[in-house]
Amino acid sequence: MRIILLGPPGAGKGTQSQFLMQHLGIVQISTGDMLRAAVKSGSSLGMRADAMMQTGDLVPDDLIVDLVRQRVQETDCVGGFLFDGFPRTLAQAQALKDTGIKIDCVLHIAIPNSEIINRLAGRRVHLASGRSYHIVYSPPKQENIDDLTGEALIQREDDREATIKKRLEVYQEQTAPLIDFYRQQAAQGEVACCEISGVGAVEEIQRNMIAAIDAATAK
Ligand code: AP5
Repeated sequence: MRIILLGPPGAGKGTQSQFLMQHLGIVQISTGDMLRAAVKSGSSLGMRADAMMQTGDLVPDDLIVDLVRQRVQETDCVGGFLFDGFPRTLAQAQALKDTGIKIDCVLHIAIPNSEIINRLAGRRVHLASGRSYHIVYSPPKQENIDDLTGEALIQREDDREATIKKRLEVYQEQTAPLIDFYRQQAAQGEVACCEISGVGAVEEIQRNMIAAIDAATAK
């Protein structure tokens, strides 16, 4: 099973990925998490990506495509994977298509901008695992502490209001066109493509995603 989760910042891609990877027994490939790990380690990729991520711009396509190409060759990807935050431009989507990797299902999580701002402003993350919490909607058991590891949670640098606005503009300009890209592929029977509302309880969205994946794989 190979899935793409498409949706704006704060749509719930990371939250739903944690559930889907456990439910389906596949790995999550989050380019955002990989880039944040690179920044933390001080690698040359991290140094190049850091400024762009802080301002809400996208990291250049060639760096991302190389990163993903290497990641999908690792042995844990054999049983399937879920892309979270990739592809994000038409060039990335075309590069993925050119690899010949067959994607089973593209799930587009749709959510209004007003909800996004609330969610990102209250988000706290566990950097090592990518687990997300929200200070009001889904707080950790102990304030600012990850439930599973007991490690500290952080607020992401790019979750500040001005940067959130910039990320939303970048999403509209560069990533939203992928919805039509995959709808066209779906019309030709190359992939299943469904829109899921990202508004509502996390569990309800999980159920809708599983129903969409079941319907896609039954075809
Ligand atoms: P990335 O890390 O991918 O960020 P993003 O796409 O902007 O998405 P987010 O992680 O902000 O949101 P999410 O949809 O995962 O929401 P979450 O589940 O956490 O990218 C960061 C940066 O890296 C980019 O700006 C770019 O610079 C670079 N980058 C990454 N990939 C790239 C690529 N392919 N190409 C180029 N550059 C790239 O949920 C948000 C909050 O809402 C949480 O607090 C959560 O608890 C809460 N929440 C979730 N669901 C619900 C719900 N149903 N109800 C209430 N609260 C909810």
